[in-house]
Amino acid sequence: MTTAILSALPEEQGSLMHALHHPERIERAGRRFWRGELYGQPVVLALSGIGKVAAATTATLLAERFAVTRMVFTGVAGGLGDSVQVGDVVVAQDYLQHDMDASPLFARWELPGYGLARMPCDTALTTALFAAASAYLAMGGAGFEPKNAAVTRGHAARAHRGLIVSGDRFVCTSAESAALRQALAAAGHAVLAVEMEGASVAQVCHDYGLPFAAVRTISDRADDSAHVDFPHFVTHVASRYSDGIVHELLRLL
Ligand code: ADE
Repeated sequence: MTTAILSALPEEQGSLMHALHHPERIERAGRRFWRGELYGQPVVLALSGIGKVAAATTATLLAERFAVTRMVFTGVAGGLGDSVQVGDVVVAQDYLQHDMDASPLFARWELPGYGLARMPCDTALTTALFAAASAYLAMGGAGFEPKNAAVTRGHAARAHRGLIVSGDRFVCTSAESAALRQALAAAGHAVLAVEMEGASVAQVCHDYGLPFAAVRTISDRADDSAHVDFPHFVTHVASRYSDGIVHELLRLL
């Protein structure tokens, strides 16, 4: 079993690379992959880049060239669900591409050729990832240090599980996030978070029959202050979550 661990940005990868035993660097398609052993497990660490196409290319390489047997994405997202606050963690149960619209040929958000809009994540891997995220939060890793109180804005960070949506847009106005949440809710899709890569990796993993799971820490509320909250969270906080949650996950697997 080789686990691919993907993040969009180096800050989202945390210091996992430095914890890698017997690291081997491989370059392909302008990307740098690190193969090695992390907490006793064979892994490949990769940066997906930003957006669905970059992430799909990276995931395809991981499947074809590195023969990984499962993929895990760790990174940040904008909170869309009412109860999903900055500093919380969302584990994806399934993924939808919010910018997919081939209507009227197909229903809004349906992936042509797949007969579905929501791509499910692997149940067992997702259960383990949710347990890992919950354990990390329970250890006080996220919100209880004074340094982090500003990040979680005084509330105890929570773990959520549900729908995450991806699209090639940084959602950064309250009007856009409200419209997205409402349009999805009207079609029965209760969305928790938005980001820019996960759904494409879920689709690639579906195509290759590989288990996939994703965890996203909430860096912003995809609102009018997202352009300030996102870089602050990514620079100062995101890496700790990835380090802690991935460590817990690899212990559990
Ligand atoms: N990733 C983190 N925050 C995001 C946002 N507001 N929109 C899209 N992707 C994000």
